[in-house]
Amino acid sequence: MHRLYSINTLKKHLQLSRDKGSRVGFVPTMGALHEGHLALVEKAKEECDVVMVSIFVNPTQFNNTSDLDNYPKREEEDLTLLEDAHCDVVFIPTVEEIYPPGYEKVHVELGKVEKIMEGEHRPGHFNGVVNVVSRFFEIIEPNKAYFGRKDFQQVIAMKEMTKQLHLPVEIVAVETKRFSSGLAMSSRNYRLSNKELDQAAVVFQTLNKGKAWAESYSPQITLEKMKNYFSESSLELEYLQLVNPETMNELNQYWVDGATACIAAFCGEVRLIDNMELVPM
Ligand code: PAJ
Repeated sequence: MHRLYSINTLKKHLQLSRDKGSRVGFVPTMGALHEGHLALVEKAKEECDVVMVSIFVNPTQFNNTSDLDNYPKREEEDLTLLEDAHCDVVFIPTVEEIYPPGYEKVHVELGKVEKIMEGEHRPGHFNGVVNVVSRFFEIIEPNKAYFGRKDFQQVIAMKEMTKQLHLPVEIVAVETKRFSSGLAMSSRNYRLSNKELDQAAVVFQTLNKGKAWAESYSPQITLEKMKNYFSESSLELEYLQLVNPETMNELNQYWVDGATACIAAFCGEVRLIDNMELVPM
């Protein structure tokens, strides 16, 4: 596995691969890797000749400085995991390399995605994600890029970004990896105690209950039942919404194909998000 730290070396390295006709698969991450990230690497290995992972804690997507300061850093463990997963290239740039003096921000009109749920509760977050990922795409020129469905709105934002900026990159969405309790794997889980890890499973349990209730009740009643169920837990709910994945409109009376429940909650200091398709697409 090649460990590269500068844009110039990375570009030269990837050019050599492209000259040989290799297809490049890119997995952007912020490190503190777990099996969820590795599922993206595995999918990229299946579909591409060269798989490269970036590790970069992007300051522009954090709207909360304590979240940025406390973001787990585990570079040595990350490198071992990537090596074991047969990743070909890992790119670990500095903030100065990614945002040099004179860096010009890109703008993408994300509509409702940046106004509701994650967009509403983390102002500027998607703008930061769009800026960092488009910068990586410009440097790497990947054929395909892999994102987890766990970040439901992020996948939508990435598809919209490639469309509006006319970027020739295929966005591939990968299923959420979970612990046996159902809790979605997340870098922020590294900050949870064992007790909190158990308690946090209620996020998945609520989504799962919602899926069952969706078979008998309207979206409105399902949502009410899910909120009641969740309120019995020790976590603090930030939002729980049922949305149409095409329009991002909230569902009230009628279900639509692909109807998705999205949730964000605090377990102690740690903010967790998850989602589940309640009605098949
Ligand atoms: P990060 O949170 O490190 O996640 C990197 C990728 O892994 C994202 O596409 C995320 O959706 C995916 N992922 C996280 N947990 C997962 C799980 N349990 N199952 C499957 N996939 C999972 O998302 C980011 O970083 C950043 O916003 C980034 C795209 C790197 C831009 O800075």
